[in-house]
Formats: sequence, structure tokens, C-alpha cells
Amino acid sequence: PPVRDLESLRVVISAGGTREPLDPVRFLGNRSSGKQGVAFARAALARGAEVTLVAAHLDPGLETPGIRVIPVQTASELALAVESVAELADVVVMAAAVADYRPATVAESKIKKDGQGGGLVLHLVENPDILAALTRARRPGQIIVGFAAETAPTRDELLELGRAKAARKKADLLVVNVVGWAAGFGSDDNTVVVLAGDGSIVAEAAGTKRAVADAVLDEVVALRG
Ligand code: PMT
Repeated sequence: PPVRDLESLRVVISAGGTREPLDPVRFLGNRSSGKQGVAFARAALARGAEVTLVAAHLDPGLETPGIRVIPVQTASELALAVESVAELADVVVMAAAVADYRPATVAESKIKKDGQGGGLVLHLVENPDILAALTRARRPGQIIVGFAAETAPTRDELLELGRAKAARKKADLLVVNVVGWAAGFGSDDNTVVVLAGDGSIVAEAAGTKRAVADAVLDEVVALRG
């Protein structure tokens, strides 16, 4: 049985991909399945934590018994939900794939083709950075884990992008993973480099998303001392 080294800690995890509506029937989304975030939730639960999962769209069939789930659709909803539960959390893990942009307006009825063969230009506006807001509001002792999903072709470029994100978002730990057509999103396995707030490498892990989650939680436990 796993060591209950997160006993009675409040752990908040975001998982899945946000969906930004364009009109009543369409959205801008991404291919996050929620598997990595759900793996964190299950791992934290097994280690004794009280887990809240803020779930943007998850693949069907991802069971979360024993876990309080708050379903959300958009980045704005995810921000509200995470911020309300993060206040009392000891650990926050932002594994969700959050839309950086949303349509500036949501059409009230289905957007129609103009029939002229011209294109359609969408006007997008930036969403707030939830992770950066969480680290700005961090309570003493609270540990905030962010992710960096990058399409970098080499390890050096991956680390460079990860370090830039670590500096911007100021998480205690930043889990850097490669994503692309065939990696990261939707897969059962993942390969990650875990950076400290100063960009130094504290761990590397590869294997099932559950194994990756446990390796990152080991670093959370180490940080708590
Ligand atoms: O769900 P799976 O199919 O299992 O795939 C897992 C995963 C690839 C989605 C996951 O491992 C992962 O990388 N999640 C983060 C995806 C992401 O949005 O990365 P990013 O590099 O764009 O964002 C960096 C960090 O900022 C993330 O912690 C993200 O949650 C957060 N963020 C991003 C935008 C925003 N507006 N607010 C945020 O808080």
C-alpha cells in the first residue's frame, strides 16, 4: 500500500481541457483527456489527501471515486472554481490544459456560412493566467505545481521553454512535458522534467501518468520538509 504521506492535506487538482464557446453548438478546445490530472487525483487520494478535482472536459470512463469533482467548461469557470477552493488548499496542481484565448463574443445563434466562399475571421481575447494568479496569492507553506506543455523538438529547447515558463509563472514546481500529435495529450504514458522555481532540475520521470504523478508528489512531500 502507498505511504500516506499526504494524510489530511487538502489537495486541489485541475484536469482536462477547457472549451471556449463560439456559438450554442461550437467551441474552441484542445485534446487533453484529463488522464494526467485524474492520475494526480487518484495518487493524492491513495496517499491520504483530501482531494478536489476541478474538471474541464475529461474523456469518458475516467472514474474518480472518493474524489470531490467540480465540473467546469471554460477557462473563466475553471479560474473561479480553482480560486475558490485553492484558498484552503495545502497543494494545488494545475494539470488542466487551459485555453489561452477565448472568442471575444459568443454568438447567440449558430454562426452561418455567408455562402460567398470567403473565410471567417475569429476575434480572440486573452484569458487570465490562473496559475500566475495562484502563485501571486500563495499562502505561506502552500505548494503550487504548474505544468508546461511544449512542442519542443529537442531536450535543450524543451528546458529553455520550461525555464522561461518557470520564471513567468513562479510555481514551486513546474512539470515540463512534450506535447504534440502523438505525445502528452490523450496517451497513457508521459515523460516529464520537474523544475524548481529557479529553473533547476529537481526530478525526471517517465512511465504511466500515475507513476509520473507519484514522482511529482514525492517532490511536493520533499518541499514540505
Ligand atoms: O489530459 P491528458 O490527455 O492526460 O494530457 C496531459 C497534459 C499534456 C494536458 C498535461 O500533462 C499538461 O501539460 N497540462 C498543462 C497544459 C497546459 O495548458 O500547458 P501550458 O504550458 O499551456 O500552461 C502552463 C501552465 O499554466 C499549466 O499549468 C496550465 O494549467 C496553466 N495555465 C495556462 C493558461 C491559463 N490561462 N491559465 C493557466 O493557469
